[in-house]
Amino acid sequence: MRQRVVDGTPLSDADEQFNQGLRPQTLDEMIGLSAPLEPLRIALQAAIERGEALEHVLLDGPPGLGKTTIAHAVAHEIGSKLVQTSGPALSRTGDLMGILTSLGTRDVLLIDEIHRLPITVEEFVYPAMEDRKVQFVVDRGAFAKTVEVPLKPFTLVGATTKAGLLSKPLRERFAIFHHVEFYPPEDLKEIVIRSAGLLNTTIDPEAAAEIAERSRGTPRITNNYLKRVRDFAQVKADGHITLEIARKALEMLGVDELGLDELDRRFLRVIADFYDGGPVGIDALAATLNEDRDTLEDVVEPYLLRIGLLNRTSKGRRATRRAFDHLDLNAPPPKSGQPELFEE
Ligand SMILES: Nc1ncnc2c1ncn2[C@@H]1O[C@H](COP(=O)(O)OP(=O)(O)OP(=O)(O)O)[C@@H](O)[C@H]1O
Ligand SMILES: [Mg+2]
Repeated sequence: MRQRVVDGTPLSDADEQFNQGLRPQTLDEMIGLSAPLEPLRIALQAAIERGEALEHVLLDGPPGLGKTTIAHAVAHEIGSKLVQTSGPALSRTGDLMGILTSLGTRDVLLIDEIHRLPITVEEFVYPAMEDRKVQFVVDRGAFAKTVEVPLKPFTLVGATTKAGLLSKPLRERFAIFHHVEFYPPEDLKEIVIRSAGLLNTTIDPEAAAEIAERSRGTPRITNNYLKRVRDFAQVKADGHITLEIARKALEMLGVDELGLDELDRRFLRVIADFYDGGPVGIDALAATLNEDRDTLEDVVEPYLLRIGLLNRTSKGRRATRRAFDHLDLNAPPPKSGQPELFEE
């Protein structure tokens, strides 16, 4: 998969490490989440006071909005360790078995992309979540017997960009749900200022606001932009980030005023131009753009939908009038039977 600067997903190990350095350690340090995280915080506080493990938590929402950070903070606050794995990495039940049996009391197991857990492994997770035990069969045929291994009280944190793909039995085994949302620019501005402080970089408030505005509601993108703007300021100026420096650096990266990058614009242009505004199915778009369908669905579409450049209908994706305007294209006249081609 091609990597993008504005992609919500990690760019590289180096970038991920950089982001980790900026990662809030506690839930309270997480900017903009004091109200949304209140139910989780109360459950966590109660569990800490009772000396119990926190109940299982499901986090869902687009990439780069803080799911992993929340899991880290929960483990940190409960004073245990975080063990991290992902749905696709757990191809055999044995893999998960090893991880589960090595968990200590109140440890937190984060399973990323939990919607991609193979079904055989998923069934193995149920008794682990519910009764804190795992069962496996030893020997074969007439000698086969089921062995039960008890587990320490642990917390499973499931993270997913596609909660809709989770099976009902799995979803029902979570007690706490948290949906991560795109951040408003004011919160992202605060994140820029916080991160700049941690990086010992000085920045004007207007420059912080500019980076925030173009970050597609996503803290990971905010931090990645800040890093590149900081480099630009160091090489092209004296290191201090002014509005002008921020604008020039973002322009150089191909990020426009709405925060769209080349792939976003290509995506919209294909719908608008090639498919006459749509409707067009996601598979056709993925093929035309030569991009991964998941990338389009998880990373490109959510933000375009949110800012009203894209519509999703039962027949497929449609570009809105605002998208045509943004791309400086003329919207075609409505097709017959589709009087409201560009309703927003
Ligand atoms: N509320 C927040 N306040 C400050 N920084 C944040 C916040 N949320 C996320 N970040 C920053 O954004 C980065 C990305 O967040 P994180 O890795 O938790 O996203 P994620 O939802 O797990 O993404 P993915 O779905 O790709 O795994 C973090 O390293 C952290 O620095
Ligand atoms: Mg993550």
